[in-house]
Amino acid sequence: MRTVFWEDSKVKMIDQRLLPGEFVIAEFETVAGVARSITEMYVRGAPAIGATGAFGMALAAQNSAATDRDGLLADLAAAKATLDAARPTAVNLSWASRRLLELAEFTVLPNVDDIRSALLAEAQALADEDVAINRRMGFNGAAVIPDGSNLLHHCNTGALAAVDFGTALGVVFACQEQGKQIHVWVDETRPRLQGARLTAWELMRAEIPMHLIADNAAGHLMRTGQVDVVIFGADRVAANGDAANKIGSYKLAVVAKENGIPVYCVAPTSTVDLNLAHGDLIPIEERGAEEVTGIGERLIAPEGVPVYNPAFDVTPHRYLTGIVTEEGICYPPFTQSLATAVGRARERVVENRKARGK
Ligand code: MRU
Repeated sequence: MRTVFWEDSKVKMIDQRLLPGEFVIAEFETVAGVARSITEMYVRGAPAIGATGAFGMALAAQNSAATDRDGLLADLAAAKATLDAARPTAVNLSWASRRLLELAEFTVLPNVDDIRSALLAEAQALADEDVAINRRMGFNGAAVIPDGSNLLHHCNTGALAAVDFGTALGVVFACQEQGKQIHVWVDETRPRLQGARLTAWELMRAEIPMHLIADNAAGHLMRTGQVDVVIFGADRVAANGDAANKIGSYKLAVVAKENGIPVYCVAPTSTVDLNLAHGDLIPIEERGAEEVTGIGERLIAPEGVPVYNPAFDVTPHRYLTGIVTEEGICYPPFTQSLATAVGRARERVVENRKARGK
């Protein structure tokens, strides 16, 4: 089962807000609806958001009343603006919507219906590539996870955070496929509890040994020798390797370094933003107070309390042992190794397109 997919001319997705209690497929027929699904986190996780954005662009083409290429391009540009604004930190969203828009801009197809079909095929290809990329990345990362390791993991980076298989949890699934005995400490990940709700659900279904921990337990586990490797994903990686990920990741990386524990960030090249020189340039999303003042429907703080709720933080690259991508593991100096990985990935997209006869 894929996290997000196209069916019956609609964008469909697992409603992650309801897991693990209920498994519901939500469906959207308008670009505004798809943007809302991202903002309200029916779908979340950087690669999953990217694929959703791509299907959103295909939906825009389908719904456009344009009868000529210029009209269609104008509708697609408007859709891209709407989709990109849905969440600011994960660069996969604008990466995917740009890929679809550029296809429409540079195509030699003269007929708008053919362009519509080409956009849908490209969104499907992007989603299929995401799964293949995650598998390659997972096995690249598994190479540095010794048998018998205790991993510490933050947020949710599994199949739910991508189209399938996942990023950092993809490494865990790859270790399992290789027959390695591993155990995962699962950070609950306040305020939205992606670790407790989603990662625990995925690991239990896969029968991978794990324990759910309160976020505040991580430092104690690291200082007392119970963690061998810290592993998390990213929503945007700057050119120098600074990585924005779910709030709390930075704190884990600093404590890991203090205790001599390797830290791997696992992210596809679509998450790397070579346009940003360093992590302080990454936009950090702020979300609503209700995520902090409540758990589910239950209020846990005095009504009206002032709240600050940044959803991501930036881990400076000096705390990262390596950045695992689908093109291999990037090591310092990241400015060079990331640029090389992104270059290789771009060549692969062109080769794949040629192979599909596009
Ligand atoms: O706010 P979320 O749940 O979208 O945040 C997700 C994360 O921070 C993930 O760790 C990240 O997207 C990288 S792995 C898919």
